[in-house]
Amino acid sequence: MDRRTFVKNSFVAASGALLANRGFTTKSPLSQKNVPGAVAPSEIDSARFPDGFLWGLASASYQIEGAWNTDGKGESNWDRFSHTVGKIKGGATGDVSCDHYHHYKEDIAILKRLNQKSYRFSTSWARIQPTGTGLINQKGIDFYSRLIDAVLEAGIRPFCTIYHWDLPQALEDRGGWPNRDLAGYFADFAGILAKHFGDRITTWAPFNMPWTFTYYGYGIGMFPPGKANFDHFLKAAHTVNLAQGEAFRAIKAASAKATVGSAYGMAPAYPKTDSEADRAAAARYHAMNNVYFLNTAMHGQYPKAFVGEPPYESMGFKPGDEKIMKVPLDWLGFHYYTRRIISDAQSGSLSSMTGHFGTETEGEGGSASRDPLTQIHVEMPAEGPLTEAGLEIWPPGMYDLVMQISREFNDPIIEISENGCCYLDAPDETGHVPDTRRIVFHRQHLAELARAIADGAKVRAYHAWTLVDNFEWTDGYTQRYGLTHVDFRNQKRTIKDSGLWYGRVSVSNRLNV
Ligand code: FCB
Repeated sequence: MDRRTFVKNSFVAASGALLANRGFTTKSPLSQKNVPGAVAPSEIDSARFPDGFLWGLASASYQIEGAWNTDGKGESNWDRFSHTVGKIKGGATGDVSCDHYHHYKEDIAILKRLNQKSYRFSTSWARIQPTGTGLINQKGIDFYSRLIDAVLEAGIRPFCTIYHWDLPQALEDRGGWPNRDLAGYFADFAGILAKHFGDRITTWAPFNMPWTFTYYGYGIGMFPPGKANFDHFLKAAHTVNLAQGEAFRAIKAASAKATVGSAYGMAPAYPKTDSEADRAAAARYHAMNNVYFLNTAMHGQYPKAFVGEPPYESMGFKPGDEKIMKVPLDWLGFHYYTRRIISDAQSGSLSSMTGHFGTETEGEGGSASRDPLTQIHVEMPAEGPLTEAGLEIWPPGMYDLVMQISREFNDPIIEISENGCCYLDAPDETGHVPDTRRIVFHRQHLAELARAIADGAKVRAYHAWTLVDNFEWTDGYTQRYGLTHVDFRNQKRTIKDSGLWYGRVSVSNRLNV
């Protein structure tokens, strides 16, 4: 797999965790036809989830809403990016997508039909503040207000992710996330949401996968605004850390019943060898890719992501920032898609390595160089089977990651904010979508989650990605993660077999249904 394909396939995982010698699953139950990483049928049969477990589905504003310039919405960075020739596969845009803006009632009816208990959605900042600051677009408020009411009427908990990657273009034009002023603007936006919806929403996550949009947007240029400079990434990430802290306080100030958590992207990182150097590299990867925004919140400090001291100057760190960043998150939400194998990039023959240097930056014309600060080499293994997006399926990674975060952060309340897989199954002649592979995927990951719960992890929710097939970022409409199929020619929704199965899981708290 070449580097670009690797990077593309990586952003859903986007991270790693140090697992060597500490709860690392050395023995995976391989009985399902000896597929590496597969869970034994007996474990699936016996898996149980606690009463009140929150079964959910997740989505994101830009990926589903469409209506990109309707009812006063401002332009976002993803509007601009997708309208730029050559950025998205097939020239696709989110202009219409699943037109959820007009079909939201139908989509919530699907949630209800599938017995969902939690719906994780995100808000489009430019729909509410068209230029990112000041003026509020009442029609944007009205849309989310109607949506939230409908979710509550269906008996489902609304979980609001405030920012799932779509920034008002006006703020990108002011320098985007490397501009520290965005921390304050974001907190204002979060406060507006909490003021208008805090009577009905109690579950808030400021950012979806902050490492991904800062690194892909400013470090390697694969996401908007398409910049490729490691220092810009460091600055963007620091602003986001400040924004997370400021938003936490703004939400709590506006809504007494608010709880604030997260929706980080995480992947367990397994050292390539047992050498001290590789284990240290895996620890740096975990720090950089998994907990760079979590450690700052819980401890007010950057984790040890760099070979030397954190590059405070390049980050734009100011005295007192540690206090701004530090906020005791009420619960921790993270996604799991796939794992990583990590080795130390300081030693060995790099030229013979395939894969991806974790903090590689890409210059104009595809020339690549590595930052000297993290020195990690990242591989995506292919020992287990691959999804149709090319991601390795590794269910034990769910157990390992949940247990690791539980240990490191003092047994927090955990929500799995995303887990899912890309398969392209479409309706057959009988109108069914027999996506058995997706059922197997979720069943196996859930069995590993049940094992973590049985071993003491305080997991209260699981959100499958995703409610309906949608715009998959730079891959456009070439990837389908939905538990509901969408025919983008006519907006017809068809619940896939995986969706029907998940609906049964949600009432029975068991997997063999
Ligand atoms: C996650 C993103 C989500 C979607 C899935 C496949 O990383 O949060 O928007 O792209 O991957």
